[in-house]
Amino acid sequence: MSSILIVGCGYVGTRLARQYLEQGQKVLGLTRSAAGLARLEAAAIAGVRRDLASDPLDDLPWADSLVVHCAPPPASGVEDPLTRRLVETFAATGSPRRILYLSTSGVYGDCAGRWIDESHAVRPTAERSRRRWDAEETLRRWSHASGRELVILRVAGIYGPDRLPLARIRAAAPMVRPEQSPYTNRIHVDDLVTLCQVAMERAPGGAVYNACDGAPSTMTEYFQAVAAAAGLPGPPLISLEEAGSRLSEGMLSYLSESRRLRNDRMRTELGIALRYPTLADGLRAILGAEGASVPSS
Ligand SMILES: NC(=O)c1ccc[n+]([C@@H]2O[C@H](COP(=O)([O-])OP(=O)(O)OC[C@H]3O[C@@H](n4cnc5c(N)ncnc54)[C@H](OP(=O)(O)O)[C@@H]3O)[C@@H](O)[C@H]2O)c1
Repeated sequence: MSSILIVGCGYVGTRLARQYLEQGQKVLGLTRSAAGLARLEAAAIAGVRRDLASDPLDDLPWADSLVVHCAPPPASGVEDPLTRRLVETFAATGSPRRILYLSTSGVYGDCAGRWIDESHAVRPTAERSRRRWDAEETLRRWSHASGRELVILRVAGIYGPDRLPLARIRAAAPMVRPEQSPYTNRIHVDDLVTLCQVAMERAPGGAVYNACDGAPSTMTEYFQAVAAAAGLPGPPLISLEEAGSRLSEGMLSYLSESRRLRNDRMRTELGIALRYPTLADGLRAILGAEGASVPSS
């Protein structure tokens, strides 16, 4: 049995690791911080604390392993030095048998609200998306040179228990009017975990999948739906022009891109049947039908 290494074992990775462990598989989770390591220990996951930017990596069992790479690039620049360093490590240690990389749908750039699938050209414009593209390209080069397999998931916004914008909604932070709001895409964390495991097992090497529920909405509708499900007032609405001075740079960057992602490929090629095919399904499971027990995050 190949050992499974989850690099960047955080919100998604911890759930995936638990699923593998419950099936009797051997898993090692890599995380950067002491808090991250404590989180893994609390979940009974074997963990190792390393910063991909600077710590030694060549003592880990990479050779012939299965790697799920969930560590995001650093917060600035247009390259992902972490993934570059990881791949350089394999030259000395031997390569994993397969890497599953959690990229983002941001690599498609702005698509003016059109429906797109994986055949759509990538056009990363935001720096965060250019870093992701750099990571994808680094891993593709590794795969070609080593002959080992790479599978990429282009992940939409992840939501789930403790991953809802409730703090923002409680703070009555404004959002742009629905008619000016871009389309956004999501996936429930449980469906993403299932997809990760199935893609690791069955996806053909070189494959790319959009990881999303296929039921996009505008960003404003998203915040309104979460607020309604939690029994909270919806966000105050402002114009896009006002947003320029009232919203964070990060939020403005997300507002500048609009696309609707198809998920046909993951459903037909991998046979994924989503447990939460719409946001309403996911919110009902997280918050209950009446938003009865609202977490504080
Ligand atoms: N949130 C979204 O909506 C969304 C959408 C698309 C794609 N994604 C991407 O999907 C992936 C999984 O998401 P997630 O929610 O599970 O992320 P997460 O909870 O933030 O976990 C990220 C993990 O990566 C580790 N990490 C970060 N920098 C590192 C470094 N320099 N060296 C070693 N480890 C490092 C973190 O360690 P510590 O916690 O110990 O620092 C943590 O274990 C991420 O790449 C994320 O960016 C997220």
